Amino acid sequence: MSSQHAVPAPVTGSGLTEEEFRAKDSRIIHPWQDLKTADHSENHALVRAEGIYVYDLEGKRYIDAPAGMWCINVGYGRREIADAAARQLMEMPYDSPWSFANLPAAEFAERLIALTPGDLKHVFFTTGGSTAVDSALRFVMFYNNILGRPEKKHIISRQDAYHGSTYLTASCSGKERDKVYQTFETSFVHHLPAPNPYRRPEGMSVEEFRDAKVADLENKILELGPENVAAFTAEPIMGTGGVIVPPPGYHRACLEVCRRYDVLYIADEVVSAFGRLGHIFASEDVFDTVPDIITTAKGITSGYVPLGAFFVSDRLIAEANDHGARKSIFANGFTYSGHPVACAAGLANLDIIEREGILEHVRDVGPYFQARLRELMDIPIVGDVRGMGLMACVECAITGEDGDDLALDYEIGNRIDRHCHEMGLILRPMINMCILSPPLIITREQIDETVRILRAGIEKAMDDVRAEGIWSG
Ligand SMILES: Cc1ncc(COP(=O)(O)O)c(C=O)c1O
Repeated sequence: MSSQHAVPAPVTGSGLTEEEFRAKDSRIIHPWQDLKTADHSENHALVRAEGIYVYDLEGKRYIDAPAGMWCINVGYGRREIADAAARQLMEMPYDSPWSFANLPAAEFAERLIALTPGDLKHVFFTTGGSTAVDSALRFVMFYNNILGRPEKKHIISRQDAYHGSTYLTASCSGKERDKVYQTFETSFVHHLPAPNPYRRPEGMSVEEFRDAKVADLENKILELGPENVAAFTAEPIMGTGGVIVPPPGYHRACLEVCRRYDVLYIADEVVSAFGRLGHIFASEDVFDTVPDIITTAKGITSGYVPLGAFFVSDRLIAEANDHGARKSIFANGFTYSGHPVACAAGLANLDIIEREGILEHVRDVGPYFQARLRELMDIPIVGDVRGMGLMACVECAITGEDGDDLALDYEIGNRIDRHCHEMGLILRPMINMCILSPPLIITREQIDETVRILRAGIEKAMDDVRAEGIWSG
């Protein structure tokens, strides 16, 4: 496949040493910052990038295996996106979405809606994934209030889910360790166990496990009372939770349960949309589900400019209209809703995806990526390799030796990350899990290189924990 990358000039004015940079950086509270280290930065600055590679202050090159944060789908250095954003910045950098509309947002809406499944033909633009999911949930509450059933507000999510960092989306997220010292909404947000086949009870088939997880949803709806349950929200593949690919048929069966009890189904496609699984949206094309709402962000602009969106079905809009006694004003929005620069970048990004056949490319190299990673299963500390398309997780475990599994998981994960970093591969380390979601333009040769470094990193980490007496396997 072709790709046109402008080779970026070296960053001017950076002239900083790592130490000088870190002195400045230490004033920033980063996401998931340990406040104990708030005054002491150990971050590496990335100063330029091209294709699937990023470069640090010292000019060292790395493969960016997480594609930033699951977002640089068309790769770095796309002058076309930069030019589109620059043109828009000069022509019309901003308009108030309360008072006006703009051309890029209208055109982008039309292009996107031609690609959404079913009757999801209205779009609400936001500033990112959290605001997309939050806005979708607010829409659901609003819709039920209009329909005269304000008690129908309970949301069912899953353990290990990630839906964002607003109060409500963080409440819907299901990672226990993110809840420490935080306050969450618990009165109407509920979590089901994750549909992680790797963690299924011994002796249970994947099909039995799927049926059990679908039954969890039905039982929870019945326990709460269908009249009280507004929505089920689910990532098609749980990304941040460890690339958890549910058993085949799981989403379709969950959708059927939702339909049975008049519960809305929200597919959180912040990660899975825009090509990561070889399709613009994965819900229908990969999982045979047409949800009521799809939320997305990240790959919508390949991360070049912040943007998010939720798509909602015409049915819900029509029902709200039919019931709205007087006015049905959806009082939800952001100063930057439908930002013209973000939408111009989104249009250029979509042009690239379509022109370069990026979806076809993912469908071509995705199985190769998955197969190459599965070869790592021969390393004794690798417990599971899973994924689909260009998202994958290599889960390592040296558990069971001294009882403190979490501490051991950190021991191994941190070492893999450090070794890979030294060898020029950036991973997304999640305790004991190495998450990979490379730019979608990655070639077979680059996949080989990624897997080669990852194997060496895991093996070195394994040697370390053996040599240090942490593990004797
Ligand atoms: C599935 C999912 N939903 C929502 C979000 C939140 O998106 P953002 O960080 O753009 O607010 C993320 C971020 O990783 C995500 O993976």
